[in-house]
Amino acid sequence: MRNEEKIREKIAEFENRLGWYQNIDLGSGIHTKTRRIWGEEIDHPKARWAEVAKAVPNDLTGQSVLDIGCNAGYMAFEAKSRGANYVCGVDLKKEYIEQARFCADVRGDDIDFRQLSVYELEKLGRQFDLVFFVGILYHCQYLYEAIEQASKVAGKRMIVESAIHPEDSEIPLVRFVRSSNYKGPQGKDAARLPGHWHPNMTALKDFFYEQGFSKIETLFKKGGRGGIVADR
Ligand SMILES: C[S@@+](CC[C@H](N)C(=O)[O-])C[C@H]1O[C@@H](n2cnc3c(N)ncnc32)[C@H](O)[C@@H]1O
Repeated sequence: MRNEEKIREKIAEFENRLGWYQNIDLGSGIHTKTRRIWGEEIDHPKARWAEVAKAVPNDLTGQSVLDIGCNAGYMAFEAKSRGANYVCGVDLKKEYIEQARFCADVRGDDIDFRQLSVYELEKLGRQFDLVFFVGILYHCQYLYEAIEQASKVAGKRMIVESAIHPEDSEIPLVRFVRSSNYKGPQGKDAARLPGHWHPNMTALKDFFYEQGFSKIETLFKKGGRGGIVADR
């Protein structure tokens, strides 16, 4: 699809239906996002990707990549642009998968976007060389089940990014933030979520050691967020 008027119309239609959380570059100066919906930046998730990308090889030729909680597909598109062979993106929300498919169509990217929950990843029936588990762990009501499911499909490397409990401690700590007590951006919307789990960095790493990853390193920790890279 390369009719710019139609592309802009479709972007506006999605905007009216549920808004754009991610700003996807559709070429010719066209971008999806024009306003913040949860307090994120207008160019979201550019800054988040910059942290995640530190653990992503520049050349992904021949590799398979899975983006869990892909939203409109930003990280899946980044993986494709680095030459990944097969890229799959999954999200719980049908509307986000529709956004992602629309963007893939406009960009001309061959990506397998599917509406699927983190608790159903076994339906994919395979493992991936690289898995993004970014900005989703704290949304998962069944925290440990989500960690197990995501780990099972990660054949080599998984990158995990999350809101974290800020306490630097050797003791693994996980804080549960009641929906009604949530004080983050756009608290009203967030209150629809079942609650927020915030592990500290020690707990975040321990979760994945427990899943059999042999090497786990801190990618970053700042502004209430943290990231790790876990290798088999
Ligand atoms: C905060 S957004 C992060 C999106 C993207 N990974 C990023 O960093 O920009 C969380 C995403 O996870 C999705 N999500 C929430 N719970 C999920 C679940 N149980 N299974 C799959 N996706 C889920 C949401 O629909 C949303 O698109």
